[in-house]
Amino acid sequence: MMMRIERMMRYKGFEMPTAVKSSIGASKHVGDEAKALGVRKVMLVTDKIIYRAGLIHPIEQSLHEAGVTTVLFAEIAGEPDTALVAEGSRRFKEERCDGLVAVGGGSSMDTAKSIGVEAVHDAPLLAYEAAPGKKPLERRIPPLITIPTTAGTGSEVTQWAVIKDPERKIKFNVGGPLIAAHVAILDPELHVSMPPHITAATGLDALCHAIECYTCHYAQPITDAVALLAIEYVAKYIHRAYANGHDLEARHGMAQAAMLAGLSYGSESAGAVHAMAQTLGGMVPVMHGQCVAAMLVPVMEYNWLGEPEKFARIAQALGVDTTRMSVNDAAQAAVREVDRLVRQLNIPTLLEQGVNPEDIERYAQAAFEDPQTVGNPRDIGIEGYRWLYRRCLGLEPST
Ligand SMILES: [Fe+2]
Repeated sequence: MMMRIERMMRYKGFEMPTAVKSSIGASKHVGDEAKALGVRKVMLVTDKIIYRAGLIHPIEQSLHEAGVTTVLFAEIAGEPDTALVAEGSRRFKEERCDGLVAVGGGSSMDTAKSIGVEAVHDAPLLAYEAAPGKKPLERRIPPLITIPTTAGTGSEVTQWAVIKDPERKIKFNVGGPLIAAHVAILDPELHVSMPPHITAATGLDALCHAIECYTCHYAQPITDAVALLAIEYVAKYIHRAYANGHDLEARHGMAQAAMLAGLSYGSESAGAVHAMAQTLGGMVPVMHGQCVAAMLVPVMEYNWLGEPEKFARIAQALGVDTTRMSVNDAAQAAVREVDRLVRQLNIPTLLEQGVNPEDIERYAQAAFEDPQTVGNPRDIGIEGYRWLYRRCLGLEPST
């Protein structure tokens, strides 16, 4: 009880700097949205696969019809690093762009946000890392429109960009309301070509954002509200989106789930799954969503004791009938339900993803130092992370 009162005493706020627009075909409105933001020349930030698939053409056309000139930066391949951001911001300035449109997954959107940071600040992105001793952002990024082509990261509405620092071999965060997109456009038509394994991995990443943000110390009623609906939507739509990529209703539901889960961050961070995934992302070429999906259940096993009532409520949001269960039984039912989901969606194990059990000590140390450790619902130290990585790698039995 003491803890809950302490949490109520923590000074909290919720800002939503991003206008959210959505419909089937919504991305065709991008030209009008850019014009309304007063931009004349945008840098289109996207990845090579999306560019080659032609998803970008109707977006370019809409911008051109609205009288907005475009400069293409289709250089994203894998997880973005500081060099890629520097290259993008150099071109942004050279071409005298005054706005950004990001089309893609988290990598494209986070790169666009980061290019925006370097476009309006004198120091490189690293100077603004969310870490002790670093500077806060000073200026709003240029007008940014995010158009996600996956339903997962929620970067379209989050106040974070996650970028790799190749020197330290870590991923770091830059954040706050000044980095958020001005407009997010959710168009499920752009999601239909996503293959099943990407649908599964990104969808479970969204579920993980909602579960971690709902149960972490930073949670507040407004983030609880969006997190719970995100969990409900994932439970309702992820199987359909996975099994039938052209099910537009399911794609719409998953796009909304990812956005709502992104909002559940508020201005804060997630918890142990993301501390562990961000750690691995800097050291091993894992795909973020897959890595998160493979670690979500072991972390829930560890964490439910810290917030049993909230984990019981997650079970309800996942569709479990908890009426005859005790709070603790219902909390554990949430863990089992997510485990079932991860198995049904064929998520590869961490071992299959190339994570090396011999490096557990290094991973545990780095995860403990990750800022996302701070809000985790159950106290965790290096020993806890050691156990979690061992459990994820099949070296500890399930609890
Ligand atoms: Fe994530």
